[in-house]
Amino acid sequence: MNLPLIPALQELSDSLLLQKKIRVFILREDLIHPHISGNKWRKLYYNIQAAKSKGVKKIITFGGAYSNHIAATAAAGQEFGFKTLGFIRGEEQLPLNSTLSYAKGCGMELRYLSRSDYRLKEKSEFLQSLLDNEKDYYLIPEGGTNELAVKGCEEILINLSIDFDYVCCACGTGGTISGIINSLKSHQRAIGFPALKGAGFLKEDIGKYVCNSQWELNLDYHFGGYAKVKPELINFMNSFKTKHQIPLDPIYTGKMLFGLWNLIEKDYFRAGSTIVAVHTGGLQGIDGMNDRLKNKGLQIL
Ligand SMILES: Cc1ncc(COP(=O)(O)O)c(C=O)c1O
Repeated sequence: MNLPLIPALQELSDSLLLQKKIRVFILREDLIHPHISGNKWRKLYYNIQAAKSKGVKKIITFGGAYSNHIAATAAAGQEFGFKTLGFIRGEEQLPLNSTLSYAKGCGMELRYLSRSDYRLKEKSEFLQSLLDNEKDYYLIPEGGTNELAVKGCEEILINLSIDFDYVCCACGTGGTISGIINSLKSHQRAIGFPALKGAGFLKEDIGKYVCNSQWELNLDYHFGGYAKVKPELINFMNSFKTKHQIPLDPIYTGKMLFGLWNLIEKDYFRAGSTIVAVHTGGLQGIDGMNDRLKNKGLQIL
């Protein structure tokens, strides 16, 4: 299991950056793999190795109907020879959306849990009842975050050819930024942009994995909550793509870049700063979001 591509570092050229004397580089982790892209490859890498060394046949995990993690786990199962089972939040909706039909096409078995049952999955008795008839499996939590995922994310910055002052990353469960934080040099700082509303709890979750305090979360750019979007976000993403030829996803990287841009405009960073923004992938979610945006007259290009 080798990295299929070396991710590229792309410097942005923009009048705002010239005016503020700030350099921004996008770390194109989204280019790692066509279907196990960005942080998904990093989070799954050591988990797949562990599943292989345990000799199990199946990987079981959890996610929402538009989950990047579900799509990537299904692809990884197909590529590395595991059966996959995904417990999906909510009732089955037919026809399947693009994420779930992709996962199914990779051979993933989909089982649906009502929202109330889905919430119980952290309780060991309920989890046991779900897995009663399963044997020989490797369990990966929702969002893919565990110790091995954090270990994988500690490798995101290792081959960077430039020095930087700040690294920015979108956050869901906080696993990705935890790995990034652990790999910082002493003069560097990480800023996390949670995609969820009211994500203060993430401070504690991240705190469990990290070994320094060179980080902060900015809770201001969730756009109403997980998977919620507003016209200003979609317009920003579309003009970003037109200007820099870099597609962003509406749930994570679009919000992170919007936030970073806004902070630069507000002089949050001193002149002369160099910032790396990690493109954690998630582009598979664009089709599903575009289906939902049709009735609002919006479209991600
Ligand atoms: C594209 C993308 N970026 C960022 C994240 C956030 O990662 P984490 O859950 O490790 O905070 C996710 C969720 O896994 C994601 O799918």
